[in-house]
Amino acid sequence: MSISLSTPNKRLNIQDLRDPDRSNLTNDGSDVIIGLTQEQKTIPCHYLYDDRGSEIFEQICELPEYYPTRTEAQILRDNGSAIAQTTGNCELIELGSGSSTKTRLLFDAYQSLGHALYYIPIDVSAGMLELSAKQLLNDYPHLTINGLVGTYEQALQQLPPSPLSKRMVFFLGSSLGNFAPKQCQEIFQEVKKALNPGDYFLLGLDLQKSKAILEPAYNDRQGVTAEFNYNLLDHLNRRFQGNFKRQNFQHWTFYNTELGQIETYLRSTQPQTVQLKALDLTVEFEEGETIRTEISRKFQRQEMEQQLDQEGLKPLKTWTDAEDWFALLLCEVKSASV
Ligand SMILES: C[S@@+](CC[C@H](N)C(=O)[O-])C[C@H]1O[C@@H](n2cnc3c(N)ncnc32)[C@H](O)[C@@H]1O
Repeated sequence: MSISLSTPNKRLNIQDLRDPDRSNLTNDGSDVIIGLTQEQKTIPCHYLYDDRGSEIFEQICELPEYYPTRTEAQILRDNGSAIAQTTGNCELIELGSGSSTKTRLLFDAYQSLGHALYYIPIDVSAGMLELSAKQLLNDYPHLTINGLVGTYEQALQQLPPSPLSKRMVFFLGSSLGNFAPKQCQEIFQEVKKALNPGDYFLLGLDLQKSKAILEPAYNDRQGVTAEFNYNLLDHLNRRFQGNFKRQNFQHWTFYNTELGQIETYLRSTQPQTVQLKALDLTVEFEEGETIRTEISRKFQRQEMEQQLDQEGLKPLKTWTDAEDWFALLLCEVKSASV
């Protein structure tokens, strides 16, 4: 679908890349069918983010236990100018932009270089993208937005031509950690393909740390993270005419020390049958059986720098916070011959 929403002065354009004829794997629910028919049932974590899910995620960012947002924001606050000075003026392309709150710290830095801002937010959550785009336009008079509603892969393959000679793709919030190593490699390859040699990639990464800090961040005392997880069932019900009963599932999350990742599940509290009519899918659950709804990998900085380098994304500089909890890596796209 190509909904274009243009303001009279053309500062806002939003294109919906989702496929109305449902022939695309990530939109027609085939990924839900595949996930729910595996031995370990899974649901791709982008289904956590309908508009309600995005709202709940904003509440998570404010929780005392959830350190990643404020830690990454502080790194951006401290080093935004260094990033902008290194890259110079460039079109800013954000994967999983959400509310674009931390993006403002980058805008402030780029704006102080004295240039107009060009921004491409990319997100599956259409409502959140539109709302935050309108707020940004109010606050940044020299900003032009070309939003893309769709998955990272869809959007990276369909970027509009850039008005500037350089681009920077940025991926904050350690959202990379939601992907298994092979998928991360594919994302790096898509990023590289979408950019030209000399362009930039900025990556926010949550680093490995103790279980005592990690587990509460994904299982807060107020139950906001649990609500985020349950909302996924409501989302599937709405989207695929399902009859999941959230009261028949329990939020369960833990840090898998061996794999270095937080794993989040919904555990069935009883034997039950669930139907998703629009997908023609019936799923049986035993008591105690789980659906994995998210992984959140925690990284080692040097290992990731090496991997990026191997993928043709040369790390230029890494910034961390005082406790080494989070890292921001700025990479430059290498030319094919390097
Ligand atoms: C963890 S939030 C991060 C939001 C923001 N970048 C931050 O750092 O606070 C992930 C965002 O990515 C979006 N998202 C998740 N999976 C996606 C996918 N496969 N393609 C596009 N957007 C996705 C969600 O809707 C959400 O807004």
